[in-house]
Amino acid sequence: MKRIALLFSLVLLILAQNLLANQPDSAYVFSYATTKNGGHNGLHYAWSIDRKNWNGIGPEFRFLFCDFGAWGSQKRMLTPFLFQDQQETWHAIWSLNEQVGQFAHAATNDLFTWEPQSYPEVMNDGNVMLPEVSYQSNEQNYLITWLSNIDGDQKIFKTTTTDFKSYSPTVEGTENDRINAREEVLIDGNKQLGVISKVSWPVIDGLIKFYELSKFREIQRAERLTDDAERFADLKDLKAEITVDPENSKAISDLLIGVFFEDINYAADGGLYAELIQNRGFEYNPADTKFRDLNWNSKKAWSFTGSESGFTIDTLAPVHPNQKHFAVLTISQVGEALQNEGFDGILLKAGDKYNFSVFAKGLTGAKGKLLVRLVDENGKVYAQASTKPVAADWKKLELVLMANESIGNARLQVVPQFTGKVALDMISLFPQQTFKGRENGLRPDLAKAIADLHPRFVRFPGGCVTHGDGLDNIYRWKNTIGPLESRKPDRNIWNYHQSMGLGYFEYFQFCEDIGAEPLPVIAAGVPCQNSSTGGHGQQCGIPMCDMDQYVQDILDLIEWANGDKSTKWGKLRAEAGHPEPFNLKYVGIGNEDLITDIFEERFTMIFNAIKEKYPEITVIGTVGPFSEGTDYRVGWEIASKLKVPMVDEHYYQPPGWYLSNQDFYDRYDRTKSKVYLGEYATHIPGRRLNMETALCDALHLINVERNADVVSMTSYAPLLAKHGHTQWNPDLIYFNNSEVFLTTDYYVQKLFGQNAGDEFYASLIKLSDGNENLKKRVASSVVFDRESGDYILKLANLLPVQINSTINLADLPVIEGDAELITLQGEVTDEKAKPVTSKISVSSEFEIEVPAYSLTVIRLKSVR
Ligand code: AHR
Repeated sequence: MKRIALLFSLVLLILAQNLLANQPDSAYVFSYATTKNGGHNGLHYAWSIDRKNWNGIGPEFRFLFCDFGAWGSQKRMLTPFLFQDQQETWHAIWSLNEQVGQFAHAATNDLFTWEPQSYPEVMNDGNVMLPEVSYQSNEQNYLITWLSNIDGDQKIFKTTTTDFKSYSPTVEGTENDRINAREEVLIDGNKQLGVISKVSWPVIDGLIKFYELSKFREIQRAERLTDDAERFADLKDLKAEITVDPENSKAISDLLIGVFFEDINYAADGGLYAELIQNRGFEYNPADTKFRDLNWNSKKAWSFTGSESGFTIDTLAPVHPNQKHFAVLTISQVGEALQNEGFDGILLKAGDKYNFSVFAKGLTGAKGKLLVRLVDENGKVYAQASTKPVAADWKKLELVLMANESIGNARLQVVPQFTGKVALDMISLFPQQTFKGRENGLRPDLAKAIADLHPRFVRFPGGCVTHGDGLDNIYRWKNTIGPLESRKPDRNIWNYHQSMGLGYFEYFQFCEDIGAEPLPVIAAGVPCQNSSTGGHGQQCGIPMCDMDQYVQDILDLIEWANGDKSTKWGKLRAEAGHPEPFNLKYVGIGNEDLITDIFEERFTMIFNAIKEKYPEITVIGTVGPFSEGTDYRVGWEIASKLKVPMVDEHYYQPPGWYLSNQDFYDRYDRTKSKVYLGEYATHIPGRRLNMETALCDALHLINVERNADVVSMTSYAPLLAKHGHTQWNPDLIYFNNSEVFLTTDYYVQKLFGQNAGDEFYASLIKLSDGNENLKKRVASSVVFDRESGDYILKLANLLPVQINSTINLADLPVIEGDAELITLQGEVTDEKAKPVTSKISVSSEFEIEVPAYSLTVIRLKSVR
């Protein structure tokens, strides 16, 4: 058999050499972009031997994608120009759109592995069209020229560079400066405008192979478990021998399973944060929705039963300058009420108590009490009480309401018991029943669902919320602490509002309450790479003159969390009710940023400052939004260069990726940074969760567990989503005001979180059928948990048939007899499957039927 394989390889080798022998030394490559899809399709190549007949590669396969600006309208590549410099590095420059005074630049050595893009600003006024480059041998620099439309006139402008990083000031040019090197060629019957370059044949061969590999990987990615019933139609139940190797073990991370909290899908306000009043500070603003909803304003969720002019919004002399807006009621008749509809109504539970509070100020001498009521749509009263009289200056008034009946959609009414003008702000209704009874706390059922995952850490506040939509929207932790009326609300990048009621204190408190490490993630001085506000994507960055203060803010966070109460920031934490330090150990810097010079400069500055002042803190860097590509590669290069202790990887992948990349982390260099897999999920068309996605997550986590010497942390993303307010699917936990809906993928996280270990044991699966397609759908992992003294065996069966397995524990010191068996099983499209716990009898060798489409966990007690 071996000899046949050897012969086959030899034949292939000879064939390959023959092919090579027939190929030309050089050929032509044509680089171009089409205007299809609004110019979003990126850079394409075609090749030719005679410069007349062209072969499109792909055709129209995308070899480079423009990263500029927000998704949708931006990320365009118009009229790319490819050019090889004196050192034989290739450079592509292109127009970004018809408006901006910037062009794009990226460099490559092989025409498919690209360095980070940059977008030099070369025009103050006027666009940059048809840019081109030429080498000026006399000046030994590169001349870049372009056409610009200024007030209806087309003019030529130019700049020079030696390194494509810094550019001379732009000046007007002439026709003589233009080389007009673009040509039109016919590809597949279509005329395309682009640039022809002569290259050696291996360059073209490399492009063809790159394309073929990409196609192959696309095919792998498209593999679905839903096709398996047909793919394996004749398959009968299988047998497996699973043997544990007690001699082959290693220490693994004890922080492997954590959670990713981001205020997306109403995860905070209207979600985990238990406040029942929507827009309590009257701070909603149409800008929160990028002006898509003009009714999203200070009056959103509020109404007044009196005349229209009786309810106005004022900003003069507010309770606190951070919350400028407040309501002014002009009561002409006692009984007129200001009403809040809550977030999709207010849920009241019979017998439960609710803390009401309001800041009130009697204007023009108005005095008297406020009657506070909880009513239904017909005015039926469920609870009511009166405050003390309002004062002439802002005063906080508080009372407790007890619901006499349960109702899902109550509303709150504030009914001044006097006529005249009164100002009201920060109108709050908070259930006394919060998670662990915390003041300003969290919704208990949601918090419990998170706690049940037994997460070892909680990431906060995102996700994209961390780095925000533009510089002004970067999440600033200092705006989220202190009295609620002094916090600074902000626009949420997901187009709604953040009250900051669930701020850094509440977050750290929650971590402590569930025994998880806090993992705050802070912007690396750059906003989201897809920002549409105040620039184009991430291309701005906090000005370097402001970076010292920005870095100081991050250092202050560490002091706030860990400093004793004699320190400036530790004192604030103590005053907020937590005199003991929070013992912060991890800080993430950056969120899947575009890895550019702008990023690197700022990240390095922050990283060095933390390292110097707080060497005990583990800084987690970032390597872009994907599991490959420029950001991933260059992000890793920067992390390795700076010796960043850990990096945050993100990828959302289809089932086929998880099936075909099981050795993803086996290939990682153990001497470099550790990995925090900060965002991942299995995505299928329709973006729903079912047994297919759950089992792919499980398969991946089994592979990660084997590599938990290099992967230290993981968090599925996103965590929470409110029905009717969801910007992103799928999410681990869905909810409405009264119910929590747990997903199949939630149960996988729970099984891994509750059955984690700190030592990993190798195990070998011998399947009765050696078909590779079958083998890659069965996986096992064995860990030892020092705390409980349990060995934990996990088995994933992604096949449509049962696997009758013999488990050989060899000399693993387990107690024979009853062991706990937990099985998550369902049809591949099942969205409702839940884990079932039972008992199994175990010995050093035992049998178990592993059902089709299942994740099985067996907890074995050890002989301690
Ligand atoms: O998890 C949802 C989003 O996905 C995060 O905000 C962002 O980091 C990623 O693109």
